[in-house]
Amino acid sequence: MSNKAFYLTTPIYYVNDAPHIGHAYTTVAGDVLTRWHRQKGEQVWFLTGTDEHGQKVMRTAEANGSDPQSWADRLVKSAWIPTWGKLNIANDDFIRTTEDRHMDRVQHFLQGLKDSGHIYEGKYEGPYCVGCEEFKLAGDLLDGATPDEKLCPTHSKPVELLSETNWFFKLSAFAQPLIEHYKANPSACEPASARNEVLSFLEGGVSDLSISRSSFDWGIPVPWDTKQVVYVWFDALLNYATAVGIGDDPNSEGGKKFAQTWPADVHLVGKDILRFHAVIWPAMLMAAGIPVPKKVFAHGWLLVGGEKMSKSKLTGIAPSDITDFFGVDAFRYYFLRSIPFGTDGSFSWEDMVARYTSELANDFGNLASRSIAMIEKYCDGKVPQPAAEPKVAEAAQKAGEISDERICALDFQGGILAILDFCKVVNGYVTEQAPWVLAKDPANKAELEKVLYTTVESLRILAVLFYPVMPETCEKLWEALGAKILGPIGDQKISEVAAWGQLPAGVQVSRGDVLFPRLPEPENA
Ligand code: ME8
Ligand code: MG
Repeated sequence: MSNKAFYLTTPIYYVNDAPHIGHAYTTVAGDVLTRWHRQKGEQVWFLTGTDEHGQKVMRTAEANGSDPQSWADRLVKSAWIPTWGKLNIANDDFIRTTEDRHMDRVQHFLQGLKDSGHIYEGKYEGPYCVGCEEFKLAGDLLDGATPDEKLCPTHSKPVELLSETNWFFKLSAFAQPLIEHYKANPSACEPASARNEVLSFLEGGVSDLSISRSSFDWGIPVPWDTKQVVYVWFDALLNYATAVGIGDDPNSEGGKKFAQTWPADVHLVGKDILRFHAVIWPAMLMAAGIPVPKKVFAHGWLLVGGEKMSKSKLTGIAPSDITDFFGVDAFRYYFLRSIPFGTDGSFSWEDMVARYTSELANDFGNLASRSIAMIEKYCDGKVPQPAAEPKVAEAAQKAGEISDERICALDFQGGILAILDFCKVVNGYVTEQAPWVLAKDPANKAELEKVLYTTVESLRILAVLFYPVMPETCEKLWEALGAKILGPIGDQKISEVAAWGQLPAGVQVSRGDVLFPRLPEPENA
């Protein structure tokens, strides 16, 4: 099917609180990757959303004197959707697990598994962490304050002991097929460290999974036993498929969407939820006879004081704390640039100031403002005749190829570095050619124009390559270069970006706002 869209998802986040920069990290990465694929001319579908059922959300709502639905409505409307808007996230859909379109399809899916014999009734007795919404293994827990108390290692909070008659999914039957799947398709779970963790987990043996709860009612009713609600992770994982119409008639709108998007190309997740995505989710799909996703990619954690930044430990930093100071595009840039995708990284204000100043304001922003100012001064603000400087044109070609290869492999840092390297080549070229010296003698006019053409044409290329990472800034630069004559920046193809000589002679440039303004003095420095 040539019509297949590149389908990428983020986790659906719990609505127990507002987003922090860990959630934004995943969502921005997904946005950059999908924008990049759109600029390759591909069809793209980008899904994010919210996970609203379960005890964690229910108890938070209760603690705040609210019912869970009103609580979720309020957080989605006042925090989650506005944050993604502010960060320029161009998602195609936003799924909430309390929507009918999701709940109906979850029930249908579950009934299918029951009918095909993958579900049975049993008794669950054991520890549960509400923070993780996870059934725990005794061996994974830490000792608490009393001999009876056991703590979740992630949340450092006591686990609860459950004893319930529940419905179980025959997860154990899929351990061997999953091992074979990951051995045959290493790219189905990345990076390699994540795949190894999943393989050793599977090889250690997998138990069946309780997929319903009977002691509270904030969830999707089990269709054949409505006193039970579906286990929140079983409900949540299905969002990736319910949002695109799983189980619908092939000729309906949902059925067509499913054919166009499934299997998902990338499920982007943090490593905290790797096992749910690389073990339970594909097993659910295998049981239903549906193709498994092409890739689960688990990135690392943003750390605060050496620990995972989290809402429950009150170490969450709101995206606006950073964007108010550095701007949205610097935020989008910084984390992908400074942390290799797949490893943990710490956030440091000082490091962000340093990179903002040297890479964004100096290397990129100044190149743009100096070049445009020189064209205004020496060429009446009009782009000179196209001319080629082979070493710069070659560097552009290389930047286009390497960044494409790296970003498609989810190596955002490698991709951004390839673009930055090109920026450095252009800066070096300008310094070496010293157009302000050439301008002193009218005999150098042709040489001067060649240098200036080379720099603005390079800026056109930089604007396109940086656009998925920093859309607002690159849009401004596109405008300043008069490049709108080539069409909207979002329509420029990565594969054609380095073809030299696209910016036509005579186009009027204009000095707009500075791309990366000088940072304010920190108040408490
Ligand atoms: O787990 N560093 O939701 P959640 C990097 N609802 N990324 C982080 C992070 C950090 N310190 N903290 C959070 C859930 N994240 C479930 C998911 S999906 C079917 C259901 C990001 O609100 C990262 O992507 O706890 C992580 O996996 C996700 O937020 C967890 O969000
Ligand atoms: Mg979490």
